Amino acid sequence: MRVLVTGGAGYIGSHTLLQLLRAAHEVLVYDNFANSSPEALARVQQLANRDFEVVTGDMRDANALHAACAEFRPEAVIHFAGLKAVGVSHTQPLDYYTTNLAGTLNLLRAMDAQDCARIVFSSSATVYGEPVYLPYDEEHPLNPLSPYGRSKLMVEMLLRDWAAARRGASAVMLRYFNPVGADASARIGEDPQGIPDNLMPYIAQVAVGQRAALSVYGDDYPTRDGTGERDYIHVADLARAHLAALDFAARSTGCEAINVGTGTSYSVREMVAGFERASGRQIPCRIAPRRAGDVARMCAKVDKAQSLLGWEAREGLEAMCRSTWEWQSANPQGYRATE
Ligand code: NAD
Ligand code: UFG
Repeated sequence: MRVLVTGGAGYIGSHTLLQLLRAAHEVLVYDNFANSSPEALARVQQLANRDFEVVTGDMRDANALHAACAEFRPEAVIHFAGLKAVGVSHTQPLDYYTTNLAGTLNLLRAMDAQDCARIVFSSSATVYGEPVYLPYDEEHPLNPLSPYGRSKLMVEMLLRDWAAARRGASAVMLRYFNPVGADASARIGEDPQGIPDNLMPYIAQVAVGQRAALSVYGDDYPTRDGTGERDYIHVADLARAHLAALDFAARSTGCEAINVGTGTSYSVREMVAGFERASGRQIPCRIAPRRAGDVARMCAKVDKAQSLLGWEAREGLEAMCRSTWEWQSANPQGYRATE
């Protein structure tokens, strides 16, 4: 299939790109490298030993998107490109709505012009907000707690209306839980700029000595050990879910939101212990106040992914921690050392 991958140089995009190439899809990556490096694409090309097209372009540039679609004529789109820092979205909401929401509008118009009617979209478990019950199923009320989360929900609404109005259209909205880990090659992985917001890259940077200690944001939550619990999903499993979603989109019409998680949650302490086992390093921790906007626990009901996509997660905590450690220790500066 000819697949346009927006944001294909990013963390999840690069892992999905590798699997798409290995599955013999023809790919065009569209990315402005705002939060990624061309080096990630060079490494994917080496790993897959296959070429693919790349356009350096911005989701906010409707003309550039239109031109890229007209040239490549995709049969389907996987739409990763966007801004994702929950905290920053509170101070720069317009940037988040412009890139995430208006960027998707530009994309759908460019797709319409080429008669491309299949899209797989990176949504997020953050659309659920404070749990009314757990595990979250896809019918759980939607009440995101940040401008970032609301931009994801708005895109979901947009895709629902687009798919309803367009004959033969198919939109699959994958609600990711907490992606972690790296490709088994240790050649591609998560490479956050500046101080990592997320738990796993922070732990990994402590393990290689770039940061002194992990701040544990609260140990008084109503969870097993008082620290926040999340449903961590290996990025290779998540990438595979996109290929399953592409197949599903090719044999269905309409719009579906689908959770992508494991159905199991781990606490911050359990993640730290898992990483210590995988790396053989101590991770110094200090207890810090709760982080604003965090919920105590998140966990996915994963039956819908199984029944519609035939997909389920394969990798557990050990592989998530080991692959993160292998990536981080082989690339302590991320992609920067080779740029
Ligand atoms: P990432 O930042 O590594 O990748 C996003 C990519 O989009 C980057 O390559 C970036 O350069 C590109 N991009 C950003 N703004 C752009 C613009 N205006 N025009 C063109 N390209 C642009 O993030 P990721 O972790 O790979 O996430 C991919 C998608 O999944 C995002 O939409 C994110 O919101 C969503 N998501 C991520 C997580 C997570 O924890 N990583 C969880 C849920 C959902
Ligand atoms: N945590 C710490 N210390 C840190 C970082 C995180 O204790 O330095 C804790 C958090 O309080 C939370 C857990 O580790 O309990 C996980 O936090 P992350 O920041 O890694 O992940 P979140 O669940 O807060 O959010 C992530 C993405 C969102 C996405 C959400 C659900 O950042 O974009 O998962 O998919 F929406």
